[in-house]
Amino acid sequence: MIETKKLSLFLVILISMISCHKQTQNLSETEISNDPMVELLAKMTLEEKIGQMTQYNGFWDSTGPAPKEGDAKEKYDHLKSGRVGSMLNVSGVKEVRKLQEIAVKETRLGIPIIFGLDVIHGHKTLAPIPLAEVASWDLDAIEQSARMGAEEASARGINWTFAPMVDISRDARWGRVMEGAGEDPYLGSLVGKARVRGFQGTDLSKNNTIAATAKHFAGYGFAESGRDYNAADVGTVTLFNTILPPFKACVDENVATVMNAFNTLNGIPATGDEYLQRDILKGEWGFEGFIISDWGSGAEMIAHGFAKDLEHAAILAANAGSDMDMESYAFVKHLATAVDSGHVDIKHIDDSVLRILRIKEALGLFDDPYRYCDKEREKTVPYHEDHATLVRDMAKKSIVLLKNEDRTLPLSTEQKNIVVIGDLAQEKTSPLGSWRIGSDDGTAISVIEGLEAKDVKFKYKSGPALISQPASFINEVIINKDDRTGFDAAVKAAKKADVVVMVLGEHGFQSGEGRSRTDLGFPGMQQELLEAVKEVNDNIVLVVMSGRPLVLTWAEENVPAIVQAWQLGTESGNAIADVLFGEYNPSGKLPMTFPRDVGQVPIYYNKLNTGRPGPSDLVFWSHYIDESNNPLYPFGYGLSYTQYKYSGLKAVASGPKSITVDLTVSNVGEMAGEEVVQLYIQDKVASVSRPIKELKGFEKIMLQPGESKVVSFELTEQELGFFNTKGTFIFEPGEFTVMVGPNSRDLSTTTIEL
Ligand code: NOJ
Repeated sequence: MIETKKLSLFLVILISMISCHKQTQNLSETEISNDPMVELLAKMTLEEKIGQMTQYNGFWDSTGPAPKEGDAKEKYDHLKSGRVGSMLNVSGVKEVRKLQEIAVKETRLGIPIIFGLDVIHGHKTLAPIPLAEVASWDLDAIEQSARMGAEEASARGINWTFAPMVDISRDARWGRVMEGAGEDPYLGSLVGKARVRGFQGTDLSKNNTIAATAKHFAGYGFAESGRDYNAADVGTVTLFNTILPPFKACVDENVATVMNAFNTLNGIPATGDEYLQRDILKGEWGFEGFIISDWGSGAEMIAHGFAKDLEHAAILAANAGSDMDMESYAFVKHLATAVDSGHVDIKHIDDSVLRILRIKEALGLFDDPYRYCDKEREKTVPYHEDHATLVRDMAKKSIVLLKNEDRTLPLSTEQKNIVVIGDLAQEKTSPLGSWRIGSDDGTAISVIEGLEAKDVKFKYKSGPALISQPASFINEVIINKDDRTGFDAAVKAAKKADVVVMVLGEHGFQSGEGRSRTDLGFPGMQQELLEAVKEVNDNIVLVVMSGRPLVLTWAEENVPAIVQAWQLGTESGNAIADVLFGEYNPSGKLPMTFPRDVGQVPIYYNKLNTGRPGPSDLVFWSHYIDESNNPLYPFGYGLSYTQYKYSGLKAVASGPKSITVDLTVSNVGEMAGEEVVQLYIQDKVASVSRPIKELKGFEKIMLQPGESKVVSFELTEQELGFFNTKGTFIFEPGEFTVMVGPNSRDLSTTTIEL
């Protein structure tokens, strides 16, 4: 099948070259192939081909009059003449249908449009932000969450999402960590696959599945200093062992598209990087989908000092393997000239177009271009009870219990004198996060509402406002730094409380794209408020809402209970109340290291040892003179209301390149709970220094009080090997340390020789 396709493609390319890129409709169709997409390609003019490679942002309210002048008019003309292959940010059946009708009925070849949108963690109903979901370590639940997003978005005309983001990041300053799977490539790969399965289902042509996008290829999460869009400079070993695996995993899961990135990687803008796109992705990995640029990233190669002008950018991007241009107008304006002048080979254009057509075909758009335009289905989207249950469940699983001294938690609903403090406790928008184009402000259940729904008696004092102007997706968040209204009243109420629940953290619009921070503390007056409350009442339960790891060192030293509650989406307050009052026993584990101080960042668990790991009495070891090397909370960390005991670790060689690991985990506490059992390895001596530990397996198990389970893992060459300095995957026999435990720090260890 693949061979036939290749042969057909070859023929098309040959024919296109002979015909000097002019129309080829006079060719006998049987002469070319029986493949309808190849036949279609053969009928297309160069302009139409480049049209398929062009994506426009929604430029006009298609239910209103057609644009008569300016840019919108030009885009409208392009749409009508078959020079637009895709649109983004158009949603709603009416809108989508109207535009699709133009593409199908008014253009010469009637090729349908593919409609893309950022469906990141749900659409109308919002699940927790992606990073939070990963804290569940529950791959089925993560898949179901993506499935729900696809269900909702597809009912509104969308057939393509720009997700999952699979950028590994070790830097909490980078605002987009909220959108990824954290710092670990093993976990990140499995999560990426689960999300692709969720979005795409088993049959892309169904009207409730959508094409997924693995983004941003590559290195975007390694932006220097955690500043968004910044350069990334990464060696081969890190590129192959850490950054690329989640992308490869998505390709193996048949992800339909890949998005390149804004950043330079080792000096080359990703959009113009032939090595990444042609050699690795389409070459070595055999990726058969298409590559979409990031927004305007083609044109940004000019600012990068890589392209001299937009035409040059078009040439570089097309030659490097970028198939579709999102909003930089480079292809639509200059690609035809570039082909005519011989700067871009028509075979590249044909390859790109065929890839795009094939995804449209897989989506079933050639059979029915209005497949995603079902008005009846659309009506079911906004209020779907099953979806509310699903996201509440996901939200509970995403919560991480960071500290619980003297069993402060769970609270009893009979508890007297609860005082709730913090502006975020009443927030109905912030818990939705920043990436939620399809949902409406004010639709999250607040913490206050969650407590009320449990009939808990409490007093609420907001304290000072967190922000001083309404926040939005496109503007900087303005934090309130001087209006102290409510500060004293909150402290006064805290004084009389038996327990104070403080809900503090970042606003939802403080993380996400373009939202890097240098300070990882609580913004505004929140830290001051926390300290003032502590002066009058020790019994504090701190609920932290954030889109990234924050520095919680003061809280860890002064507050008995801390709950990491991220931005948990639509059912946020209900899920938090479920955990605070013990209806759900927390089981979340951190997918990113929480630093003690921002100066430790980038900080991550799978680091190299250095030649001087220390500690030593003299200064000459790898350390800080003013802070420990250790994080506050390590990767994989999270507590439960029950306690687990690990015992009986055994590792035996099950072959020359494989190890079987067994251990027993027991619930020695009083409550049923789920534990994420984690397996790490270290390759002790290798031709490339290997990290001190690397996650290579995990299992989430449910244990009743007093119950024990044997957990087994099989490590194969795949887990035991690594990529060397040439980017080649190798396995080297020798000594391996095998470690198991409840997080990346507290591990039982054994060694084995292969
Ligand atoms: C820019 C972001 O980097 C990318 O992730 C997103 O999909 C596009 N904008 C489209 O909204």
